[in-house]
Amino acid sequence: MDAATPDSRLELVSLQVETPLWTRFFSVAPLVLIGTKEGDGYDLAPKHMAMPLGWENFYCFVCSPRHATYRNAVEHGSFTVSFPSEELVVQAGLAASRRLSDASKPNLSVLPTSPARIVEGVLVEGCLLYLECEVEQVVDGFGANSLVVGRVVAAAAREDVLRGGETDDADLLERVGLLAYLHPGRFATVRESFAFPLPADLSVE
Ligand SMILES: Cc1cc2nc3c(=O)[nH]c(=O)nc-3n(C[C@H](O)[C@H](O)[C@H](O)COP(=O)(O)O)c2cc1C
Repeated sequence: MDAATPDSRLELVSLQVETPLWTRFFSVAPLVLIGTKEGDGYDLAPKHMAMPLGWENFYCFVCSPRHATYRNAVEHGSFTVSFPSEELVVQAGLAASRRLSDASKPNLSVLPTSPARIVEGVLVEGCLLYLECEVEQVVDGFGANSLVVGRVVAAAAREDVLRGGETDDADLLERVGLLAYLHPGRFATVRESFAFPLPADLSVE
């Protein structure tokens, strides 16, 4: 069979929508570390349900009022976003560890941090890109989950991940490698990429 031709012999299977769908198949997501101020210190938690919200400088992530990340972001009105590469994937996972009985998260010590520049909280050292956000809006009520939306008030990136100049986009991605979270429970580093076949009259820039 031609690889581009869908196999019409494969029957579609109906999925039950009364229970969550998202572990029945893989989907591609980013993986970021959301940083918040917590007490006299800070919290970091990995999130894969996270993205820019629209064309302007808003960034959002899905959280839950049960998570300290949500409560910290609401209390202090800010959060940071650190975009790790694969070198930090183990440490990023450890930031999701359960808290001890005293509510501490000792595994956070494996993530080197430096203070955020504008908002309260920290950035994770060694990442590719950083956003600092002020909470713009929190939308509760998606079952146990909520959408936390921030306005980006500061951003910084490693110089070699920025587009422009002489650098070819495909070469840049091959050299840098973007971390993708393949929900549920896998990850990949994306290095091979292709120009999207846009219609002649459409630009994404
Ligand atoms: C790979 C991975 C992705 C995650 N993505 C999310 C997410 O998108 N939204 C969410 O609410 N929790 C997500 N979690 C769980 C959070 O990290 C969770 O906030 C954290 O474990 C709870 O810590 P906290 O109470 O300090 O916020 C994810 C965990 C892992 C390991």
